[in-house]
Amino acid sequence: MASDANKISIVTITILCFLLALVKATKVDITQQWKPDFGWEVTCSWNLYMNDTLQSVNLSKNKQQFFIFRPYNEYGNLRKTQTWDLAESIIKVDCVEAVDSGIKGKCVLSIEPQVPPKKDFSFGCEVSGERPYFRMANQEIVVEALIPPSNAEMKAVTSESGRVTLNCTSSGLPAPSIIWTVDGETQRIPHDFHSTPVWNATSKLWDVWSSITPPPEVLDKIQCTPEVIKGNQVVRGASAQYNDAQRQILDGTILIISAMILLLL
Ligand SMILES: *[C@@H]1O[C@H](CO)[C@@H](O)[C@H](O)[C@H]1NC(C)=O
Ligand SMILES: *[C@@H]1O[C@H](CO)[C@@H](O)[C@H](O)[C@H]1NC(C)=O
Ligand SMILES: *[C@@H]1O[C@H](CO)[C@@H](O)[C@H](O)[C@H]1NC(C)=O
Ligand SMILES: *[C@@H]1O[C@H](CO)[C@@H](O)[C@H](O)[C@H]1NC(C)=O
Repeated sequence: MASDANKISIVTITILCFLLALVKATKVDITQQWKPDFGWEVTCSWNLYMNDTLQSVNLSKNKQQFFIFRPYNEYGNLRKTQTWDLAESIIKVDCVEAVDSGIKGKCVLSIEPQVPPKKDFSFGCEVSGERPYFRMANQEIVVEALIPPSNAEMKAVTSESGRVTLNCTSSGLPAPSIIWTVDGETQRIPHDFHSTPVWNATSKLWDVWSSITPPPEVLDKIQCTPEVIKGNQVVRGASAQYNDAQRQILDGTILIISAMILLLL
């Protein structure tokens, strides 16, 4: 019996501790996401003590404060937004306090690059409860100017002479380089032509291509792999192979066929 009572009290204490932990946690969380054809979306969400109310949320970029959200000083306005139209990016902040609780809310920072982003930046979010405790919590994250290269796409063009030219494309940030290899990863071979990277203002990424006219005997063993190198990180996109390449007939061949059709008519 005694041991049963002990068990029950242990369980009770465990549950109480768990509930206390829930009540006591002033929590701040930051998440980041790259949204295709847009840019970054960074979200700071908070959760205060049950009996607390929000005093302020301070947002900072590279340790410099640039925005304060104070719902109760702004006459019950539970939302505050602001947009900065800068040369390098359009930045928007949208802070909302959950209507039903007063202890939860979030600030969403959207960054739409207008020119190729070069630098990482840090984003900080500091949340403070009301007097008399002014309980604070903060988080900081680094948003890296790194978007992994898209999977390689290969196109194969067959010329009149029967030689096949492969053209491989990818996009990413910073600009990916395209590596041609034969026999899996074992042997690198040089490209014949490649593009200088082109900034795509819609995708906010660098588009690149690279082409090669390999000896016919290695055609089936060739693959291209996009790769981004930043500092000591190497990030690769999936490779493409000749077997999954999109085949195209050379324009010249189409011209000849069209000419023949015209002659027949
Ligand atoms: C709110 O709850 C905390 C933790 O349970 C407690 O320490 C504090 O005294 C309470 N504050 C107020 C203002 O009631
Ligand atoms: C937020 O910034 C204001 C003004 O700079 C400052 O008074 C306040 O203490 C800051 N709050 C936090 C939680 O850092
Ligand atoms: C490779 O493909 C790209 C994108 O489709 C194109 O702009 C480029 O001209 C092609 N290069 C060659 C050598 O065909
Ligand atoms: C730029 O990116 C968009 C969307 O990702 C794509 O549809 C478009 O073809 C790209 N533009 C060029 C010139 O490649």
